[in-house]
Amino acid sequence: MTETIQQTDRPVDQPVEVSVSDLTVVYRTDLGELPAVSRASIDLVPGQITGLVGESGSGKSTLALAMLNAVPSPGRISSGSITVTGLGDVTKLAGRKLRHARGGTLGYVFQASQNSLNPLKTIGKQLLDLGRAHDVRDLRALVRRAAQLISEVGLDPDRVLDSYQHELSGGMRQRIGIVLALVLNARVLILDEPTTALDVLSQAAVLDIVRRVHRDSGLTTLIVTHDLGVVSEIADRLVVMYGGPNPEEGPATAVLHEPSHPYTRALIGAMARIVGDISAARVLPGRPPDLTTVPRQGCVFRDRCPLAMPVCAEEEPELVQWTPGRRRACHVEPTGVLS
Ligand SMILES: Nc1ncnc2c1ncn2[C@@H]1O[C@H](COP(=O)(O)OP(=O)(O)O)[C@@H](O)[C@H]1O
Ligand SMILES: [Mg+2]
Repeated sequence: MTETIQQTDRPVDQPVEVSVSDLTVVYRTDLGELPAVSRASIDLVPGQITGLVGESGSGKSTLALAMLNAVPSPGRISSGSITVTGLGDVTKLAGRKLRHARGGTLGYVFQASQNSLNPLKTIGKQLLDLGRAHDVRDLRALVRRAAQLISEVGLDPDRVLDSYQHELSGGMRQRIGIVLALVLNARVLILDEPTTALDVLSQAAVLDIVRRVHRDSGLTTLIVTHDLGVVSEIADRLVVMYGGPNPEEGPATAVLHEPSHPYTRALIGAMARIVGDISAARVLPGRPPDLTTVPRQGCVFRDRCPLAMPVCAEEEPELVQWTPGRRRACHVEPTGVLS
């Protein structure tokens, strides 16, 4: 049933570059295998920047890693598919094909990537290692492409390629993370919390760069963040995440200004800077989802939801289109009740 709904209720009649469908990712714990991502579905459309938002612990990084089929042990993708144009279902790839998909098609900038460079090698040496790992024959062309990208992100290529990570600021390292993600000509760029560890000025600079490379290289971009301020500045579409099926998705402006799901409303209410009114800020009651506490039946948000009804404890709401371009998973009627 779910599959039928997802097929027919595609939010927009646009080509899809990446389609995550009904994806569940579990981690093995003392209590058995517990889902960190449960039946998540996301479409990434060429030319658009999609923002994936949710509180810490809602499974954003797990989902982003799953898109590269790179969920670390003790985690595994237990069901669902991730279809990428030209690659097929990434969850079925392994070995050389998978290695080439990572970087060759899917560019990834890790959470805290400013700390993920090798401290013992210059950036240039790491670039060559990357090229060799991907069987790049013309390493000079790779260096030329890197130099071009380094200039595009506003840095001096000669200096950067000769530098060790400790010689570069956090903002510079984040930019180099973006360069390394794109240097093998990836079409899809996935950035996990790209601004989180940066000061405000570096944050603005990095967002500006993401916007520019996205446009200039004609990318399909996913930006993963807990910060609604970031997505409000950069995202075309927004997908909200909360442990279970995505509560809500739609055009960023519409979702931010007219949130339909009680969780999105609570999240925005807790972020005064979106509305620019501190007095309007409310604390989001309760705790974010946790592997051990997420309800296994009904709506995952119901314990924190001010509008929960008896049905919410019984049935998990399906993600369905309720107005053109917008989908939500909630038993509460979308209009009237919430406003
Ligand atoms: N290696 C792991 N082993 C067990 N649980 C994990 C592991 N990594 C993440 N988790 C759990 O999975 C859930 C989602 O984590 P994560 O994807 O990092 O969320 P987010 O990026 O939204 O903060 C959390 O409850 C977290 O504790
Ligand atoms: Mg994370």
